Amino acid sequence: MYRNKTCGELRLIDAGTDVTICGWVQRMRDMGGMTFIDLRDRYGITQLVFNMDGNQLLCTEARKLGREFVISVSGKVTERSNKNPKMETGEIEILVDQFTLLNASKVPPFTIEDESDGGEDLRMKFRYLDIRRNPVKEALVLRHRIAQETRKFFDAQGFIEVETPVLIKSTPEGARDFIVPSRMNPGGFYALPQSPQTFKQLLMVAGMDRYFQLVKCFRDEDLRADRQPEFTQVDCEMAFVEREDILQMFEKYIKTLFEAEKKILLSAFPRMSFEEAMRDYGNDKPDLRFGMKLNDITSLVKGKNFKVLDEAETVQAIVAEGCSAYTRRQLDELTEFVKRPQTGASGMIYVKYNTDETIRSSVDKFYSTDDLKHWISATKAKAGDLILVLAGASGKIRKAMSELRLEMGNRLGLRKKDVFSPLWVIDFPLLEWDDELKRYQAMHHPFTSPLPEDTHLMDTDAGRVRANAYDLVINGQEIGGGSIRIHDRNLQQKLFSLLGFTQQQAESQFGFLMNAFEYGAPPHGGIAFGFDRLCALFGGSDSIRDYIAFPKNNSGRDVMIDAPAPVSKEQLDELGLEFKYQL
Ligand code: AMO
Repeated sequence: MYRNKTCGELRLIDAGTDVTICGWVQRMRDMGGMTFIDLRDRYGITQLVFNMDGNQLLCTEARKLGREFVISVSGKVTERSNKNPKMETGEIEILVDQFTLLNASKVPPFTIEDESDGGEDLRMKFRYLDIRRNPVKEALVLRHRIAQETRKFFDAQGFIEVETPVLIKSTPEGARDFIVPSRMNPGGFYALPQSPQTFKQLLMVAGMDRYFQLVKCFRDEDLRADRQPEFTQVDCEMAFVEREDILQMFEKYIKTLFEAEKKILLSAFPRMSFEEAMRDYGNDKPDLRFGMKLNDITSLVKGKNFKVLDEAETVQAIVAEGCSAYTRRQLDELTEFVKRPQTGASGMIYVKYNTDETIRSSVDKFYSTDDLKHWISATKAKAGDLILVLAGASGKIRKAMSELRLEMGNRLGLRKKDVFSPLWVIDFPLLEWDDELKRYQAMHHPFTSPLPEDTHLMDTDAGRVRANAYDLVINGQEIGGGSIRIHDRNLQQKLFSLLGFTQQQAESQFGFLMNAFEYGAPPHGGIAFGFDRLCALFGGSDSIRDYIAFPKNNSGRDVMIDAPAPVSKEQLDELGLEFKYQL
């Protein structure tokens, strides 16, 4: 028997008992007559004592151990004279009378401590050592807990977990597919699913009624802190539902997770239309932990011979409360921030409404104090506030203003990690015009149904049709999205044609789904949550990588196993493939 206890469970009440535990040597302190070792396993750390007076040979052997050696030790649990209240096992230690070296270890390339000295790349390469560190291990444990809560919730609500295939045909979700060649079908390729969208709809046609799945999805897209090429969704679908049924059910799911994981009781999630979100926050996923709404002051600024504002399609302003004393340097920093290519504005105008009610602005040359007073009343700024103004093309300026708002939120400490502001964003446009392709694209995906009251516009004014779609946004992050689906063959066909598919293309790519709609497809709808994002939200981190056991780096590489990697010529020949490039 390797062990009968773990390194995390012994307490004062166990004093006097003989135990055997296993683990990794965390650190060693040699105090002359005594040697102390902290032994670590997944459950915690227990202090071991080797006493020179007791067994000299044992003590000498123990001193030869190094960091991360794996040992099994037996001994008596004893009360510590020097207790450590910071450790759960801090009241006891084990007086060792026997140990076995199970495996030695090379010196690890970074310290296995909560705050490691290893850089990100090194820790990724040795991820199995990184996972030994508490914060990484805890992140995986948290992920496990949320997965269990998820399964418990959906099971209790009558959802059935069904596994859908991984080798499929391309499903359009807006990213590129990863493709897999087929040896048995030369020239044929599978695609890895960007989501199980069509399969969950077929399960509704099949009468499964309520489906969910914790499922890997694959998207070949540019990576960011909240995006991985393979990630996990909590994917759900329900039959015989309207939007309200879906919002109620999944709001309950999210509330259940918050209650279980954070002991937080959330009140009803507010709802906001896409139009309102874009107007007030310049963004379809607003962070509602703070206000600072956008104010449209376009009509107030014209006709004062200031070309920049006279020519601007839109002029937007936000109010940074209590910031009228910002220094030249702070304002320059903000100007630099909005001028970054990612933000995209050409400059920034400011108005300081000082505490003594004087007004100073960067456009004093063009605007009198009386003019600026109109800006102040339109934005409802108070004495002591700073008004920040951006002007230019509408789409660009809304985006830039949204970024500036978030930056100010950060600077003013308004985006607190322990505050959670969920929001349903609804009534998205069904289609968006793609200037490059000169055709419509589905804003969500092509299976989303139009709002019933807008369906009549499909033939006459398709760009104005709103979708029966919804996103769950928490603290400015898109956590989930879904829609009520089209379940009628003709409507689906019409949408494909609006998206530029010929009848043949639609038939060859999605004939299986449209055919299924002819065999009694029930009205249905669903949603998918980004599971990694949910975990990061609960864990208080901005990066989903921390919650994935073996993540990819920013170039989509797994640096530990060194993938992607070339394959042999024989493998390529077997697949009938030839490559122009070699890695
Ligand atoms: P959507 O494309 O909005 O919808 O994806 C659902 C949720 O998945 C998460 N997500 C990601 N997480 C990590 N890395 C990525 N690369 C990534 N891409 C998306 C987001 C997102 O909200 N089939 C539809 C759902 C439906 O209509 O039911 C779909 O996949 O949190």
